[in-house]
Amino acid sequence: MSEEINFPANEALATLLRPAFGFIDAMALKCVVKLGIPDIIHSHGRPISLTQIATQLESNSPGHRCLARVMHVMSRRGIFASTSSLENEILYDLTPSSRLILKDSSNNPSYAPIILMLNDPELLAPLHYLSFTVTDGGVAFEKAHNCSIWEYLAEKEDVNKIFHDGLACTAKIAFRVIATEYKDVFASVQSVVDVGGGTGTTAHEIVKAHPHIKAINFDLPHVIAIAPKYDGVTHVVGDMFKAIPNGDVVILKSILHDWDDDDCVKILKNCRKAVPEKTGKIIIFEQLVQQEGEGPIDDIVYASDLLMIAHTGGGKERTEAQCETLLKIAGFPRYRFIGNPGLPSIIEAYVE
Ligand SMILES: C[S@@+](CC[C@H](N)C(=O)[O-])C[C@H]1O[C@@H](n2cnc3c(N)ncnc32)[C@H](O)[C@@H]1O
Repeated sequence: MSEEINFPANEALATLLRPAFGFIDAMALKCVVKLGIPDIIHSHGRPISLTQIATQLESNSPGHRCLARVMHVMSRRGIFASTSSLENEILYDLTPSSRLILKDSSNNPSYAPIILMLNDPELLAPLHYLSFTVTDGGVAFEKAHNCSIWEYLAEKEDVNKIFHDGLACTAKIAFRVIATEYKDVFASVQSVVDVGGGTGTTAHEIVKAHPHIKAINFDLPHVIAIAPKYDGVTHVVGDMFKAIPNGDVVILKSILHDWDDDDCVKILKNCRKAVPEKTGKIIIFEQLVQQEGEGPIDDIVYASDLLMIAHTGGGKERTEAQCETLLKIAGFPRYRFIGNPGLPSIIEAYVE
């Protein structure tokens, strides 16, 4: 008599295989971003058939069949909505999520560059070495590429651009909110220094919203080399572990999460020296781990935390309390949690 085989319940199997197949969702999303499908749907102005999408792409029929399957998966994930026409043809429409990856417009910065950055093959490679970081304590990025992420970006012009385009879009998004909802943050400020400011998008957004402010965008040489010129923004090359240019306010956006606590304290102490003795402040943008975070955004923060391990080794996403501890050690005894307008939360910290 043959032994009965107990297959796992479908739910158990799906729970197991969903993360195993997670790369498919990521790559299908990358595919629709690269093809500009959301913009094709948007410019059509109403739900669109696959044939109409394919015409816009000038795609031939075999590719068309492949796109149908990509669109099906993306619709199941809520990236597109699908309905049937009277002729029983599937029609695709945008959802609030795919609206976020429409081409950049002045009121609507696009998340498309960060999707391309997160799914760049060379930036993904270190994730294959997560188990190595557990067993050997090494840095996954170094295992994959034989150098630190910053050294790698300095060498690889194309990946450097993808990385900084990705971050620049998050800077536009964050500052669109700052400019509208937290105007008072920059009201009495004359000068700002954006430390590790990338290609200067944050500094540019601040100066656009507050033209009286003089901004310095401060970063490593290979980053400043690809930074566009912006009126009111001076690009300065330097190392934040050595010295930071002076300003009324120092900004640290997505910087602390790249470093371990000791390095964060070194950076923060240099920020402390760069701002005025009594009135100086720093503004920190970081995605914070919530104590009881069980919401959809918390999943992203936990995912980003693993990405920090893979990319930087010592980097991590922190709770507000962990940030407060670092600030106090570095000479910022007082801080104010300003808000959480999306992924990054905003914290102002004061020298007195
Ligand atoms: C995660 S990116 C954040 C970029 C930018 N703040 C943003 O959010 O768009 C970290 C930045 O820190 C810069 N960086 C790394 N080490 C640095 C150093 N020692 N001194 C100055 N900048 C540094 C990197 O070049 C990079 O632009």
